[in-house]
Amino acid sequence: MSLFLWNHAVTAERYRLFTDRHDRYRLAARALVEAAAIGPGHRVLDVAAGIGCTALACLERLGETDVVVSVEASGAMRQEGERRTRGLRIAWRSAPPEGQQFDRVICGAAIWALGPVSEVIGGMSNLVAPGGILAVSLPAAYLGEADEPGGGIDPHLTALPSALAALNLGKPPDAALPPLSNTRLTQAFRENGFSMARSDTRLRLTQQAYLDWMALPPVNETLLGQTRPEDRPALLARIAEDLDMASWRWERWALCVGTEATR
Ligand SMILES: C[S@@+](CC[C@H](N)C(=O)[O-])C[C@H]1O[C@@H](n2cnc3c(N)ncnc32)[C@H](O)[C@@H]1O
Repeated sequence: MSLFLWNHAVTAERYRLFTDRHDRYRLAARALVEAAAIGPGHRVLDVAAGIGCTALACLERLGETDVVVSVEASGAMRQEGERRTRGLRIAWRSAPPEGQQFDRVICGAAIWALGPVSEVIGGMSNLVAPGGILAVSLPAAYLGEADEPGGGIDPHLTALPSALAALNLGKPPDAALPPLSNTRLTQAFRENGFSMARSDTRLRLTQQAYLDWMALPPVNETLLGQTRPEDRPALLARIAEDLDMASWRWERWALCVGTEATR
């Protein structure tokens, strides 16, 4: 996934609206910081911080004077994050601070987009202090694992992507990153001196949340990339008229926690 579509005010605004309306990223972030055993006194680096969902979950567990360093390369997302978390103990950066190490280095909902996974894990592992933890979260579907059906007449939530695909307005993804799997991720941790333990958490993804998430330009690019981003909400609204809004499905999130093995 290119950073280009994330670095847009419309994306940042829609991400904030999505987060105000739905608890997907908030709950996934809480599960990640719990899995990473973040607690008072930890120096935490939050990689690909978005608009601050993961950092806010960290603050719920950190001590009163602890500060989260949040790194977000997209200026648009970072500015929205800064605005949304003003006055809180979050230090926003466009890149990791040089020469510093952290007790916890975490990355919520982004690892697959940042580059070849072993390189990305390698870069983050260099920022982990001795005895520290490196933890990432991602939907298990991005590891090629199927989600369980939920409820309603569209219990896999396939109607929306099927209707969008039928428009034939898609654009193949430009990134040539190999697909992720649990094995590849485990290897990436191991190659960089960490042993990975995985636990999962399960969220309910509603049709409305899926529709609102699909309104994010970086997300709908694959299915609507031949249209202008500003024209896409109208297409989505038309398709939404035929969706069963009572439908929902389970969404499993993988919480991958690395502790030092051979470093
Ligand atoms: C789905 S958001 C997750 C944000 C946050 N961690 C959360 O849990 O809400 C993905 C983030 O990854 C960042 N991102 C995507 N592709 C990137 C790239 N190639 N390089 C750096 N950051 C990238 C985006 O700017 C975005 O903030």
